[in-house]
Amino acid sequence: MNNAPIGVFDSGVGGLTVAREIMRQLPAESIVYFGDMARVPYGSKSKDTIISFSRQIAAFLMEKNVKAIVIACNTASAFALEAVSDMVDVSVIGVIEPGARAANNATKSKRIGIIATEGTVKSGSYSKVLHRINPDLQVFAKACPLFVPLVEEGWLYDEITKEVADRYLYDLLSYDIDTLVLGCTHYPLIRRTISKVTGDGITLINPAYETAKELEKILEADDMRADGVNVKNEYYVSDGADRFKKFAASILPSDIDNVNYVNIERYESKC
Ligand code: DGL
Repeated sequence: MNNAPIGVFDSGVGGLTVAREIMRQLPAESIVYFGDMARVPYGSKSKDTIISFSRQIAAFLMEKNVKAIVIACNTASAFALEAVSDMVDVSVIGVIEPGARAANNATKSKRIGIIATEGTVKSGSYSKVLHRINPDLQVFAKACPLFVPLVEEGWLYDEITKEVADRYLYDLLSYDIDTLVLGCTHYPLIRRTISKVTGDGITLINPAYETAKELEKILEADDMRADGVNVKNEYYVSDGADRFKKFAASILPSDIDNVNYVNIERYESKC
């Protein structure tokens, strides 16, 4: 047993979809969440930049004595999983591997679509992991950058979001996919709107859900589950605490008031 918290980080609010799944599936665990609100979005930044940001955040989380780190951000998982794993001596879990495994289990036609940020699509990470799992798969990826601001605006079920989805998904649907990975933290929040476009024949995969399941397996295997007696979640941001709180209120089951500012660049010297 180990009551240390789980470190979860993202470029901003989106990773709360992953934190929410961890809270649902592992209610005995405490979480230290960091949202890099000052430097969001990650999806349009280079690999080197994302590695440097992710290492700073990992240094901060290690200072909080976390027992594992979950990289909730797909873009950071795509670019920085290895760099963060090499740096720390706790388990590091990204969202791509669990999402890819679930997609492989779900597909019958072996034709899988990926929607994600520009960075995640360019990295080819989902494709690489899927082909490692099953070389027979055919993978089609599409960057959908407008989904992130639409979700942050709260336009989850609006006609405009449906129109944007229609346009983004048009090509992917013509490839006859039967499985679609929601490869960005924000996309599970517009799952219903996306499914209106994809219809019933396409299974939508939520990597957040799969990542929480993966985390549970790792904690179980290492005998590191918490006892659930003093569960405490802490939230840290590099800016925009009020925006963070407002968004969190729309995602998490209860309001949060303990959002603290961290000067994250200070951790560069500790990487
Ligand atoms: N969290 C990012 C991801 O999952 C989306 C938002 C951003 O671009 O920073 O890729």
